[in-house]
Amino acid sequence: MKETRGKIFGVAGPTVMVKGMTGAIMNTVCLVGRHGLLGEIIRIKEDMVTLQVYEDTVGISVGEDVISYGIPLSVTLGPGLLTGLFDGIQRPLDKIRETAGGFLTRGVKVEALDLDRTWDFTPIRKKGDTVAPGDVLGTIEETERITHRVMVPPGLGGVIKEIKSGKVSGAEYICMLERGKFIELYQEWPVRRPRPFKAKLPPEEPFITGQRVFDTLLPVAEGGTAIVPGGFGTGKTVVEQTIAKFSRSDIVVYVGCGERGNEMSEILSDFPKLKDPTSGLPLSLRTVIVVNTSNMPVAAREASIFTGITIAEYFRDMGYSVAMLADSISRWAEALREISSRLEEMPGEEGFPPYLATQLGMFYERSGKVMCLGSEDRTGSVTVISAVSPPGGDFSEPVTQASLRFAGTLWALDPDLAYRRHFPAVNWLASFSLFHAELDDWFGREVAEDMVRLRGRLYSLLQRQTELKDIIQIIGVEALQESDRLALEVANLATDAFLKQSAFSEVDAFNTYEKQYWMLKTIFAYLESAEAALKRGVFIETILDSPVKGRLARMKEEPNEGFSGKARALIGEVESEFSMLEEK
Ligand SMILES: Nc1ncnc2c1ncn2[C@@H]1O[C@H](COP(=O)(O)OP(=O)(O)O)[C@@H](O)[C@H]1O
Ligand SMILES: [Mg+2]
Repeated sequence: MKETRGKIFGVAGPTVMVKGMTGAIMNTVCLVGRHGLLGEIIRIKEDMVTLQVYEDTVGISVGEDVISYGIPLSVTLGPGLLTGLFDGIQRPLDKIRETAGGFLTRGVKVEALDLDRTWDFTPIRKKGDTVAPGDVLGTIEETERITHRVMVPPGLGGVIKEIKSGKVSGAEYICMLERGKFIELYQEWPVRRPRPFKAKLPPEEPFITGQRVFDTLLPVAEGGTAIVPGGFGTGKTVVEQTIAKFSRSDIVVYVGCGERGNEMSEILSDFPKLKDPTSGLPLSLRTVIVVNTSNMPVAAREASIFTGITIAEYFRDMGYSVAMLADSISRWAEALREISSRLEEMPGEEGFPPYLATQLGMFYERSGKVMCLGSEDRTGSVTVISAVSPPGGDFSEPVTQASLRFAGTLWALDPDLAYRRHFPAVNWLASFSLFHAELDDWFGREVAEDMVRLRGRLYSLLQRQTELKDIIQIIGVEALQESDRLALEVANLATDAFLKQSAFSEVDAFNTYEKQYWMLKTIFAYLESAEAALKRGVFIETILDSPVKGRLARMKEEPNEGFSGKARALIGEVESEFSMLEEK
């Protein structure tokens, strides 16, 4: 390890200038000043090195020592991550509290994970086996929900000379290879370097959120990226938290960059109490939380999304499907902007540095579905769902625009819908999914052969709704053709009964694809029966007054189980009720 030393020459907020560190390496960490604060080298110019410091720099002064061992900013990966609450540089919040008495004190040295804790290790390899990077050596029941697969780290491999079984800890090796190479329970990985995999796989399955407007109209593929921009109060945080609770992912990594002061403390106090709706077990058993509260230095916030995605990749490598949630990436971009301005860099649009999009790309492009490293075939995925908070809700600003370049799905939140309490407040016509073509096969195979067609019909109906609303503005509803009045009526029904979904209702919050399909099926059966009645000469008023509509409006309150039967019965009622309406 290469050690370089220098002396503090200047301090500006979270950045520190150091002189005399000849040979220092970019993006390696340093211990700064007499408190030994953690910093990272972000600029080198001749013998002048600039650091971003992850802790408060108040009180450090010129002339104090800085030392670097040439190690990049890294996270510790291994059992104990799940249920964890960490800050942006993976310091466990509870440990810091214990050590420092309630609040974050500077220079506190705590291990990211408890290396002395013992775990029950079940080897699946034995002496004499040849192993390669990514191969699973054995398993540990990390929590009641998740089996931790202990893997050969990238760069290691060979013939096993010895492998442990039973109680193991980070204090000693778990596997010895020929030529004196050791594999430990914990591995360090640089946060800014993507973890390797064998191959990237095309998206072919949706990431199931249980939210109808997302799953049916605007799906994101497993391994894809969705961005959720929206002004204040449009429901970004509720979207992220609903996905954390209900999405069909094995692991959730939640990076919170707080918008409001108390938001993060709410997460810290509420999250551990939440129950997994399917298993009834605590949600934290499959969750890792990285938080930045507003009193933490900006540099730690800058690092947090890379810390989060590295942890997400590690679980992906085990073969899990991981949801990487960021709320909100705009707070991260602001940290980047603040550091850049301290460096007196030439600002780009709205003061953000010109490398904003490049940096964002280094985060977003780590999403994906992959064939994991290792001899056995194993796939894993990281799906990124990232909230963006454009100031004033104006999507033309740089962070939204840069994020859009990497997004496969856009869930654009709309203040008008939120104001009308239509949640999730997704503007379905302003949003998009680029995954439709790739996922259509899956929909046809796994949901129903006419699912794609029904989705297309819903989409056309919603487009027609917007056109008709514009027309009504000018000529009034009475002047519409009867068939258009009917279309508008059913479009409004679909909007309220299908697109609108409460995150807080036990029954409504998560819908299976089967339920979504049967809801659509019922709505279009209603449209068809009503159209037939209209053709037969029934008054439009009689059709619109038909009481069966009320039952359609309430079908979301029916549970997932047994829904198809209920929907079939309802379709029968719709058909018989409309066939009995009398002609004029
Ligand atoms: N899916 C939803 N179902 C019901 N209410 C919602 C939903 N989404 C948002 N809300 C309401 O909107 C409020 C603001 O949402 P929030 O996610 O905090 O907004 P943002 O993070 O965009 O500022 C919530 O407190 C809640 O009352
Ligand atoms: Mg929010």
